[in-house]
Amino acid sequence: MSEIDYIQWQSEFLTGIDKIDEGHHHFIKTHNKLVDIINKDFCEKKLLEILYAVMHYAEHHLINEELCYQGYDGFSEHKAKHKEFVGKINDVRETMEKNNNSDVCIKLQNYMHDWFMQHIIKKDMEAVKYVKNNPR
Ligand SMILES: [Fe+2]
Repeated sequence: MSEIDYIQWQSEFLTGIDKIDEGHHHFIKTHNKLVDIINKDFCEKKLLEILYAVMHYAEHHLINEELCYQGYDGFSEHKAKHKEFVGKINDVRETMEKNNNSDVCIKLQNYMHDWFMQHIIKKDMEAVKYVKNNPR
């Protein structure tokens, strides 16, 4: 199996809102830990640890964002995406409980990578820009 790429932290990912940036930084670290365990073939032993970190992101960070983005004109759509993320993570957890294999790790890594590319660096950036330009 070829090695999977890490997400490299870049200053252009910064939104300027500390709480949000901390959450995103933590998300990247968790993603990269997952890449490590896939590359080292430790998936069965370590997946639960990763999953808990992602659940923490979902419970704390996504809620922080929702508090911050109130008033944003794309708020409902953004919140719906968060709900979809939580649903996906719950699905991964259920699948893992039934069938603990490396496919689950790779699927989770793909999903996290897509989430980073499609949501974090696009949708969150748009939301933060709106909130900064339209202070409450
Ligand atoms: Fe978000």
